[in-house]
Amino acid sequence: MARSIVSTINGRPAPGPAERVADSSNPSQLTDVVAKVTLADAGIFAEACAAAKQAQPLWADIPAPVRGRTVAAIGRIVETNKEALARLVTRELGKPYPEALGEVQEIIDTCDFFLGEGRRLYGQTVPSEMPDKQLFTFRVPVGTAAVVTAGNFPVAVPSWYVIPALVTGNTVVWKPAEYAAASAMALFELIQAAGLPDGVLNIVFADGPATFDGLEQALRAGTLDKIGFTGSTAVGARIGELAGRYLQSPCLELGGKNPMVVTPDADLELAVEGALFSGFGTAGQRCTSLGTVIVHESVHDEFVAQFAAAVSAAAVGDPASDVLYGPMLDQKFASRFEEYLGWIQPYHKILGSSAVGRITRENPRAGFIGDPDAGLFYHPTIADGVQPDDALFQQETFGPIVGVTTYTSFAEAIELANAPGYGLSASIYTNDPREVFGFRRGISAGMVSVNNSTSGAEAHLPFGGNGKSGNGSRQSGIWVLDQFTRWQAINWDYSGRLQKAQMDVAELTADLDFRLTT
Ligand code: UN1
Repeated sequence: MARSIVSTINGRPAPGPAERVADSSNPSQLTDVVAKVTLADAGIFAEACAAAKQAQPLWADIPAPVRGRTVAAIGRIVETNKEALARLVTRELGKPYPEALGEVQEIIDTCDFFLGEGRRLYGQTVPSEMPDKQLFTFRVPVGTAAVVTAGNFPVAVPSWYVIPALVTGNTVVWKPAEYAAASAMALFELIQAAGLPDGVLNIVFADGPATFDGLEQALRAGTLDKIGFTGSTAVGARIGELAGRYLQSPCLELGGKNPMVVTPDADLELAVEGALFSGFGTAGQRCTSLGTVIVHESVHDEFVAQFAAAVSAAAVGDPASDVLYGPMLDQKFASRFEEYLGWIQPYHKILGSSAVGRITRENPRAGFIGDPDAGLFYHPTIADGVQPDDALFQQETFGPIVGVTTYTSFAEAIELANAPGYGLSASIYTNDPREVFGFRRGISAGMVSVNNSTSGAEAHLPFGGNGKSGNGSRQSGIWVLDQFTRWQAINWDYSGRLQKAQMDVAELTADLDFRLTT
């Protein structure tokens, strides 16, 4: 049965002047409407920011260790509801159940990390140049944060923003993807159950243009102090531009064209396993998904033969069964993926399945599990022989397609890996330490994997990218604290007189002409 979902502001439903109602459907069973979502307009979005702004000082006054206990409670409540939330993620987004469980675990891990931060949030004591004066630093919350998230990680990635924002004393307006509304609402309810005061966390469902206008209204009104955004590079650039006009730097987690370099002495079996998981897991719809394998020419044929065999044999279909991947997240992603398939050139050698495009009864895939016509299922595609000028090489292709190209010298491998201009995640398979550290030094990516795939970041290392993948902001671990707090410096002079920095500073006399006599 479809659930009706509306925004919640200040602890109360806020349907407002509905612009339209959107369906969030099960992508593996399109007739199954999971939720009917009332989309808010820009005014409601701005209202939510105003409510968050009003709630913020009181939330910041709650001692950080107490906020940390609330984060601990969120973690425990999510843990108790792990299977139910994962089942919903599988139903609404088509993520295979074991992956959905992993996604929910990532929320729990995030809470486990940040519950302790409530008792740390360390500042420093710093010596002064002058006597009877002490310097300190404090972390202060930024204020209100708007968190705009995609639906490929409908609950884990939002928690990467919301949990650290809350523990550091910020209030939040969360705008999830409308095609992930039921999963988002479920997480919202689990978080609320930890006892957050009204207005501390608000959830608003809105389409892109209403969200953008709402962000602008709130920035103009001074009720929004930070934007966190996970999504496409194009939208991220617009958000960066908007925030910049208000002298803010958003936390941007954007796309990737994540390379995997396979060197001559790589363990090919391991590399194939990694390419299969990161290229086709979540139907290639992770921001960390593998884009292009850059394989040394001497092992190209062997690698491609093994990779093609593994992809051909992989189970695709019903995400509640044991499959490598299920459907596309939503119709929008399926349509866009079909455009990307149009980038395939006659000189690309296509491998990995019996056909290309949508899997149907007329265009079948061997071993498909379930009814292909019921959902948005696509054949896995390997495009061997991609060239640096190809769109398939240059652009992110959110879906189950992986390019393969070759290199001769190690320098060329790094050049090819950096060429598309993204910089999220990059991987290398090698057993040569010089190549490991040479790759680390030369690669533009914010995250580097060695003998591991481009996906599978752990929840307590910095997550984020450079170039077209982001503005250098980092989520997760201690690093995200710099997104949701600002440093305040305090100096306290208790000498009873004005001591001028740089001028009233004692100096000991040094003999700089001193030389050893040997
Ligand atoms: C994303 O695709 O936005 O590293 C996040 C991974 C996951 C997170 C991906 N832990 O693949």
